[in-house]
Amino acid sequence: MVIYRARVFDTPDNPFTGGELRSGSDLALVVDDGVITERTDFDSAAASHPDAEVVDLRAGVLIPGLIDTHVHFPQVRIIGSLGRPLLEWLEHSPLPEEAKLADDAYARSVATDFLTGLTSAGTTSAMVFGAHFPGAVDALFSEAETAGLRITSGLVTSDRNLPEALLTDVETSTAAGQALIDRWHGRGRLRYAVTPRFSFSAGQELLAAGGQLVADNPGIWVTSHLNENLDEVSGVAQQFPEAIDYLDTYDRAGLLGRHTIMAHNVHPQDRELQRMAETGTVAAHCPTSNSALASGFFPLRRHIEAGVRVALGSDVGGGTGFSLFKEGVQAYFMQQLDPSGGLPLNSAHLLYLATAAGADALELSDQVGDLSVGKRFDAVLVRPAEGQPLDVGLKHAGSDSDALAKIFAMGTPADIAQVWVDGDLVKG
Ligand code: GUN
Ligand code: ZN
Repeated sequence: MVIYRARVFDTPDNPFTGGELRSGSDLALVVDDGVITERTDFDSAAASHPDAEVVDLRAGVLIPGLIDTHVHFPQVRIIGSLGRPLLEWLEHSPLPEEAKLADDAYARSVATDFLTGLTSAGTTSAMVFGAHFPGAVDALFSEAETAGLRITSGLVTSDRNLPEALLTDVETSTAAGQALIDRWHGRGRLRYAVTPRFSFSAGQELLAAGGQLVADNPGIWVTSHLNENLDEVSGVAQQFPEAIDYLDTYDRAGLLGRHTIMAHNVHPQDRELQRMAETGTVAAHCPTSNSALASGFFPLRRHIEAGVRVALGSDVGGGTGFSLFKEGVQAYFMQQLDPSGGLPLNSAHLLYLATAAGADALELSDQVGDLSVGKRFDAVLVRPAEGQPLDVGLKHAGSDSDALAKIFAMGTPADIAQVWVDGDLVKG
């Protein structure tokens, strides 16, 4: 048993439906076998457990482990390739890099760089967009198991409109997908996701083969891209004349539901929002990517009003890094600037989007997302170096909400001092 003594911020009550930041300045989180068994003031916990080890974290702020619902493992080395819209950017930067992951040894070294990126940023759970090669996905799962993170990922599939080296077919991809599911799905903290790259690069038969894997393996996940860029949306409409809209290309293949996360959805039709809400399909909002690739303003208000589940994604390498603080503050900026009327956000919204909303998106809310009794101890200690602007800001904040806003405004991976998953240190 360990008592973590800390200043704690979390959002167990959804701020989009009236909840507020929960904070405590000198709390004790009693953790036994990775689970929070008590949450109380430090003095009472110390009196009830006089022999317990005490870890004093009061030099920083403890928040729940951050949850990234859309991040590409093969793109860690091409972050920061700016200046092109989606389809040109794909051709110029990520696709040539992704072809290199045909080499298992190269893929494994990329996987370790990628996992270092996640843990360094305080990300403890993620929906990871995999690679086009089974050996590379295998390397990712194996390195993720060693790193100890909660990772859902899978084989990326495409059969058109990409370089030849990245294409597959129904039979090959189904056999490889099933083998990866058998090996990794449900092993420790790992789960499998069927991952068509996007309907722009997949025919109806390939999408349906993904749906068949879902039907054959109840409980596995689905992730893809949706309505990110206007040229992409019109390309999909041309390729699928029988589909009602972009979302329908996935729906017809049996790929929607509570285990499905679609990245972006910057340009949705109202019907698509309704159908996402009806099926429980999640939108992963990736604001630095939407800015870097000039994809557009994410209509957060329309998603929330339609009842669509929304969480945050870094979309590395379209996004500009692994930090969900940066994604949070960028979401805030873009909602303020959206000429068609964004949703004003406060710091509690940002923390919620980066933690509890991600846990909900990944159906992990019974285990993680906040620091309540009964949850696993997935946590991040934000502790800037003494005298740095964030350190000064945290010491002089007018309120806890203000302190949290400073974390999102100024926090970077350099301020993430320690990270735990299930009570085990994965960084620090
Ligand atoms: N759509 C298809 N592939 C990608 C990708 O790698 N990144 C982004 N942002 N969108 C995509
Ligand atoms: Zn993406």
